[in-house]
Amino acid sequence: GQYTASQRKNVRILLVGDAGVGKTSLILSLVSEEYPEEVPPRAEEITIPANVTPEQVPTSIVDFSAVEQSEDALAAEINKAHVVCIVYAVDDDDTLDRITSHWLPLVRAKCNPSLDGEGDAEAEAEGDTQREPIRKPIVLVGNKIDLIEYSTMDSVLAIMEDYPEIESCVECSAKSLHNISEMFYYAQKAVLHPTSPLYMMEEQE
Ligand code: GTP
Ligand code: MG
Repeated sequence: GQYTASQRKNVRILLVGDAGVGKTSLILSLVSEEYPEEVPPRAEEITIPANVTPEQVPTSIVDFSAVEQSEDALAAEINKAHVVCIVYAVDDDDTLDRITSHWLPLVRAKCNPSLDGEGDAEAEAEGDTQREPIRKPIVLVGNKIDLIEYSTMDSVLAIMEDYPEIESCVECSAKSLHNISEMFYYAQKAVLHPTSPLYMMEEQE
C-alpha cells in the first residue's frame, strides 16, 4: 500500500548456501511445480511476471553455484540482490552451523566493503566508514523437511536474535513442494514490507 516504505517496481532474490542444500532444486520446483530429479549446478536467472506473484511485482530469482562462480561474482550478486535467501538442509547440521560461521558474515561484509577486514582505502577516504552499515534483508530457508520429523526452528530463532537483518525463516521441501511458494513470498515481502528499520533501501537501484 502507499503507506509502506518501499516503492520498488521489481524484486531480485538471490539464493546462497552450502553445496547440496537444494538451491537449484528449490528454484526449479517453484518454476515447474514439480520436483526435478536431475538439476544443473546453477539455474538460469528467471523473472516471474508481476501478475503471477502475490505482491504483483516482477520478481527475478538468481541461483548461486560455487562450482560455476567465483567469490567476486558472488559479491557482485549479493550487491545486486534486494534480499538474500540463505538456504541450509534441515537434515545436515553442518549447513545450519555455516549460516552463522560463514554466510551471514559474508553477506554483511560484501554489503559493507569498507567495514570488511581487508579494508578499502578508497571508500575510507570518502568517509564511507562513518556510514551506518547496510543490512541487506535475509530469509533463512531450511530445505529437505521431507527427510526429518523434527524442526530446526529453535536453532533458527536463536540465530535471528543476533542478526536483525533476518526478516523471516521457513522450512520447506523442494521434493514434496511443501512451503515452496511461501518461501518466495516471504522473500518478496522482506523487500516490499521490511520490518527491520536498519535496511537502507534508498542505497539500491
Ligand atoms: P550446489 O549447486 O552444488 O551448490 O547445490 P544446490 O544447493 O543447488 O543443491 P541441488 O539443488 O543440486 O540439490 C542437491 C541434492 O539434494 C540433489 O540430489 C537434490 O535432488 C537433493 N534435494 C534437493 N532438494 C531436496 C528436498 O527438498 N528433499 C530431498 N530429500 N532432497 C532434495
Ligand atoms: Mg545448484
